[in-house]
Amino acid sequence: MFKSTNLDMFTFPFTNFKNKTYRYSNDLVELSGDKVNFMKITPEYKAQIKRKREMLEKQPEVRYQSFPHTMEMQWEFVELLIDLSTAKYPEHFSVEKDGDQWTFTNHILEETEVFTFGDESSIELEPYDMIGRHFHHDYMLMVNRDDNFYLEVAQESFAALFSPHWNLGMSFDEIHGPVPFVSRDGIDLVDRIRKFLLTIEPGVPRTRVNWNLMADRWDVNYETMDIWGPQREKVTPENAGELVHLRVEEQWFIRMPRSNAILFVLDTQFLPMEDLIKRPEWLEITYFNLADIPDYMAEYKGMAPFLPQTVEYLKNLIDSMKEKDKQEKGEEHFVQ
Ligand code: HEM
Repeated sequence: MFKSTNLDMFTFPFTNFKNKTYRYSNDLVELSGDKVNFMKITPEYKAQIKRKREMLEKQPEVRYQSFPHTMEMQWEFVELLIDLSTAKYPEHFSVEKDGDQWTFTNHILEETEVFTFGDESSIELEPYDMIGRHFHHDYMLMVNRDDNFYLEVAQESFAALFSPHWNLGMSFDEIHGPVPFVSRDGIDLVDRIRKFLLTIEPGVPRTRVNWNLMADRWDVNYETMDIWGPQREKVTPENAGELVHLRVEEQWFIRMPRSNAILFVLDTQFLPMEDLIKRPEWLEITYFNLADIPDYMAEYKGMAPFLPQTVEYLKNLIDSMKEKDKQEKGEEHFVQ
């Protein structure tokens, strides 16, 4: 599997919480100009695509679902992904458009998709599924009806506690039903955030960062709970550095101009606890936040069986880092 190797490209989740601890909130923010285009090719690109395609091949129904009436929206999605990728990475992706005859080339994978735009019979997969397999994100299309959003197309390989199979057709409120979604002051957030989502305009997407911890596992959904549930018991303060990963989802919420749906894009990244030492300030903030997670949140996030061991591991790591620092300073002093 993969972990983030270029930490400058890793989305550290607790940046805004330096002096606070983590609680649920309406943490949607506006994007800076350079981030509106969500395409991001990291050193892990090929490993991510390999994994994504394997999941889609192995469990096609769990990983991809759509309603038959979504084809027009699916083509809108194809156009968006091609436009964004060729604009940001012209050296990696290119497109030739001859009327409706489009040729999209992925130069990293040396693959070409030739199709008639708007005509599903010109390709083997559905349009959303075909183009989504060139990019490492998970994608969910939420159709806006009656002041709510309904999941009508989804392709996902990394999402946690979620699958297209499980969630197709659900509303925003239903999807968030299991989340103990209250703010620091005890206010119920589902309604407030749904109303906020209604205000998102085309061309002005919003973003937020979600995070979790994973024990020796990269995806957890309800269909495989019998496998990953017991794996969480293996974690000890000694092996937590290697087994437990900080799992970060950078999320985009994009209003599609033609269909008026909200496209929900997830960029899922992983960093093992032991790699936090490469950024000592991240290590301390992570420890501070994890040590304060309330029980109800640890239970919901599925990390309750291994959170105390992970916190102990981080504390030991910080102590040993400080001890080493002290010794080095002492030695410097001695040499002078
Ligand atoms: C409109 C598209 C959205 C979809 C399809 C969606 C989907 C989901 C799903 C499936 C979960 C459960 C999985 C998990 O716990 O990681 C979840 C959890 C959650 N969602 Fe959303 N969501 C959407 C929008 C939002 C927005 C706009 C917010 C803004 C604050 C939000 C905040 C949360 C939070 C805080 C959780 C709990 C996650 C955790 O504690 O790990 N969601 N969402």
